[in-house]
Amino acid sequence: MGKSYFPIFVDLLHQPVLVVGGGEVAARKIRLLLKSGAKPRIVALELNEELAALVAESKASLIASTFEPAQLVGMRLAIAATDDRTLNRTVAEAAESAGVLCNVVDDPEASRYITPSIVERGPITVAISTGGSAPVLARRLRERIEALLPGAYGKVAEFMERHRARVKTLPVEQRRLLWEDFLDGPGPERLLAGDEVAAVFELESLVGGKPARGEVYLVGAGPGDPDLLSFRALRLMQQCDVVLYDALISPAILDLVRRDAERIYVGKRRAKHTLPQEDINAELVRLAQAGKRVLRLKGGDPFVFGRGGEEIEELAAAGIPFQIVPGISAANGCAAYSGIPLTHRDYAQSCIFVTGHRRKDGQLDLHWDALARPGQTVVIYMGRTALAELCAQLVANGLPADWPAALIEQGTTQSQQVVTGSLGTLPGLVAARSDIDGASLVIVGEVVKLRDRLKWFLPT
Ligand SMILES: C[S@@+](CC[C@H](N)C(=O)[O-])C[C@H]1O[C@@H](n2cnc3c(N)ncnc32)[C@H](O)[C@@H]1O
Repeated sequence: MGKSYFPIFVDLLHQPVLVVGGGEVAARKIRLLLKSGAKPRIVALELNEELAALVAESKASLIASTFEPAQLVGMRLAIAATDDRTLNRTVAEAAESAGVLCNVVDDPEASRYITPSIVERGPITVAISTGGSAPVLARRLRERIEALLPGAYGKVAEFMERHRARVKTLPVEQRRLLWEDFLDGPGPERLLAGDEVAAVFELESLVGGKPARGEVYLVGAGPGDPDLLSFRALRLMQQCDVVLYDALISPAILDLVRRDAERIYVGKRRAKHTLPQEDINAELVRLAQAGKRVLRLKGGDPFVFGRGGEEIEELAAAGIPFQIVPGISAANGCAAYSGIPLTHRDYAQSCIFVTGHRRKDGQLDLHWDALARPGQTVVIYMGRTALAELCAQLVANGLPADWPAALIEQGTTQSQQVVTGSLGTLPGLVAARSDIDGASLVIVGEVVKLRDRLKWFLPT
């Protein structure tokens, strides 16, 4: 059973702290002390380069001698940071007699206090301690919290500090509720997007008792594997009031949306009709105007064959705040999970993304001469239905019939299937597979040959 500690944050501004040791371990501690405004006093016969520079710049002072208990007089804290365990313990005992709290680096048993693992976001500090019993676990927890807290979260704390006076006029309980409403509303996201004016507007609306303004998050959910979501995507998914999603969004990803958010499906209906784009645009505007935080969740990246631009144009025209979160597009996801690099020094110096979706008149609207080129990878979205014609046209425009080509269906998911062949054989190989009828991406180019060596993802 480890010791129990009393957690505190100590104000060390201008306070003297004795650090015994002049090497890297001492330097690490001194860097932290300087951040809190403390005045480190180093006891050492030799200093490393960094500490010598700090002393030269008067950021720390030096007692160039061996350790003496008298050096502890007047100190707020002490840190024993030499590589001599016996000396460290001597420092700790002397500090104990002098009533100075002492930390011995990597020796919690001899320490009167220990320093936690920390995550910092501006004025916010999250401290993690396992009481010295499992520092590796503390580090792991720290990594998790690092990932959870957006880098710019300090801005939110600073904003709240700056606007405290504005809210102070309200009774205490109302103040607390107001800040809670602010944190639950679009204000923090506006700040994280760098829009302070909009955040002030949100705060003023709350102070004036007006209902919160809605906003829209256009979020790319990636190609299928939930692990490929960005931190930002996940955060917005967990704070929306309503989500509009389409057929490419897998149940596993939808599961990560806030439980009590309303779910609206806008993809292909059973009768195979898609909700017209204009209706989706109008719905986004309507919901946001009703004060909702609306998540528009799209497969892959919203700006790659995703019509994200059209949705945003409508929001911009209606003056609705929005933000756009990129996602991993099917090309990147399928390439990585099938072991087919999109470019390669020896095989492809460029890569081109096209859609194989036929126009209303049934034609494929592609510049074949720009596609049928050696040294280039062609990625075809929505190309399964027209696969035979696509391959034939590429051959007709100059690529050899044995030019490598692959089709990846439901890439990055546990149902991923990859069919490899050539422009001549791929259409037949795919047509013979009745089990391939999901979202599919075609990759054409010599890079396909690398799959034999680079494949790693083997869904069960
Ligand atoms: C309307 S587009 C949307 C593309 C999306 N915005 C993106 O960046 O990936 C839909 C097409 O993307 C491709 N696609 C999306 N997810 C896929 C996946 N997991 N595996 C293979 N192809 C996929 C298919 O070609 C599908 O027909």
